[in-house]
Amino acid sequence: MLASVALYEVQGLTKSFGDLAVLRGVDLQVERGELVTIMGDSGSGKSLLFKLMLGLREPDAGRLIFDGKDMTGAPESEWLTVRRRIGIAFQEPALFDSMSVFDNIAYGIREQSLLPEDAIPRRVSETLAAVGLPGIEEMAPASLSGGMQKRVGIARAIAMRPEMVIYDEPTEGLDPINVTRVNRLMLALRERFAVTTVVATHNMRSAFETSDRLILLHEGQAVLTGTPKDFRESSDPRLADFVRASEMRLPRPSEAPPSPS
Ligand SMILES: Nc1ncnc2c1ncn2[C@@H]1O[C@H](COP(=O)(O)OP(=O)(O)OP(=O)(O)O)[C@@H](O)[C@H]1O
Ligand SMILES: [Mg+2]
Repeated sequence: MLASVALYEVQGLTKSFGDLAVLRGVDLQVERGELVTIMGDSGSGKSLLFKLMLGLREPDAGRLIFDGKDMTGAPESEWLTVRRRIGIAFQEPALFDSMSVFDNIAYGIREQSLLPEDAIPRRVSETLAAVGLPGIEEMAPASLSGGMQKRVGIARAIAMRPEMVIYDEPTEGLDPINVTRVNRLMLALRERFAVTTVVATHNMRSAFETSDRLILLHEGQAVLTGTPKDFRESSDPRLADFVRASEMRLPRPSEAPPSPS
């Protein structure tokens, strides 16, 4: 029975700030093991949606159902359990500058008392290796490049070995080589840790290359969902608006993927 339940289900999610109705009844499902990308204009509420899904903000209305359990209005203690099972790489890496890379990655493990202190170094080194940054434990976040900081943010999100990872604009501000690197990393981590993956991005090319399924957020609702192929073939005007607004075009199936270099 339970195996057929979506890992995360959002129903009728609504959130306003004063007169600004950002989310106006969002319905979406995340299935186990899939990589789903949420696309939408800047300010459409992607980051807000993620914060609501983690219990970091209170919705005005709607239901948040994680692994079959209705979390709507749940106490903080229950949300802490959810946040152990869902890692997030925030849009801003938000690393603690006063702490080493090691302590940044260990932070969530310690906060959740997931491992004894003497087991943490091994977990941190394995996780840094998984994001392609072995041995940088003692470095200060401020001394890392933007792309490295993004990957440390990803390491922090996966260090607890969550069942689901949310990546909020993981390639924003990166050069093409690092965009490719981060996209491959998300796919590799999904394989290695069998982690359900939710991404928000403006990068249409990345979304089309990495995703099993795409969701378009438009005027406060999830208006369109489908595979990259469905989206390519769609003539929905809301998708056309989004594509125009992002001043990009949908990659055609015949187009070669970017060179790996
Ligand atoms: N705490 C808050 N107080 C007031 N307004 C907020 C708050 N959080 C978000 N908003 C508003 O909600 C809207 C959605 O913001 P959000 O950051 O979720 O957008 P986004 O889709 O992630 O955009 P981007 O693509 O630029 O990251 C914005 O208009 C923002 O100003
Ligand atoms: Mg955002």
